[in-house]
Amino acid sequence: MSELQQKVEQVVAVLTEAVHDYAPVAFANSLGAEDMVLMDLIDRYGFDIEMFSLDTGRLPQETYNLMQAVRTRYKSPLRIYFPNVKQIEEYIAKNGVNGFYESVDLRKGCCHIRKVEPLRRALNGKRAWVTGMRQVQAVSRISLKLSAYDMDNRMQKFNPLLEWRHEDVWQYIKENEVPYNKLHDDYYPSIGCAPCTRAVTPGEDIRAGRWWWESSENKECGLHVGKVIPIK
Ligand code: ADX
Ligand code: SF4
Repeated sequence: MSELQQKVEQVVAVLTEAVHDYAPVAFANSLGAEDMVLMDLIDRYGFDIEMFSLDTGRLPQETYNLMQAVRTRYKSPLRIYFPNVKQIEEYIAKNGVNGFYESVDLRKGCCHIRKVEPLRRALNGKRAWVTGMRQVQAVSRISLKLSAYDMDNRMQKFNPLLEWRHEDVWQYIKENEVPYNKLHDDYYPSIGCAPCTRAVTPGEDIRAGRWWWESSENKECGLHVGKVIPIK
């Protein structure tokens, strides 16, 4: 069995455990390369896992193109959550439409309204959630576990791609002809909102293009900041 096949089997085992022990389970799908691997596997194996994306309203056109494309490729639906209109209107009235560039607090405030609050709604009633995070993506992700209790969201959190390398993700995508965000071909290894994401240059960290004007220890959007208690 190839090394990649072993890693795929580990993902399938983790997702099987999640569904078996923690149903109902939801998968937060940003449509980034890692999440496309998980989407492909969840659809292929028919896992009973609800897939959702948080549409911040500021996503790049390429992400919307992919969002549309997955409708024809996959039979499992992708549910889209939007931010609360009133909160967005108040933020913009107070801080301006691009107020997030002005300070880390305003940036985190925008992420809170556009991502964290919708995430809370998406996870409501679930007993576990799944993400596409990998350990080597960032210093802030080194202590991630395959499965841990997420105190913020009060449910189990699974990171089945924890030990995957960048090369594993792309080998899987190419071998299985998984659709992916075309921005990845233009040196965007990590993609978030359009105004807060830029391309990286050779040798730069893979998350260097996210909130590039901030220092690296701040670079989490609030979806994954909380304390987690590892169980394995
Ligand atoms: S972020 O916290 O900096 O935005 P990143 O883009 O690396 O995170 O994504 C990490 C994981 O968070 C993804 O694999 C996915 O599970 C979840 N995630 C991030 N953004 C979204 C989104 N817009 N919709 C759904 N899930 C998301
Ligand atoms: Fe707002 Fe930028 Fe965060 Fe998107 S990434 S929610 S635009 S601050």
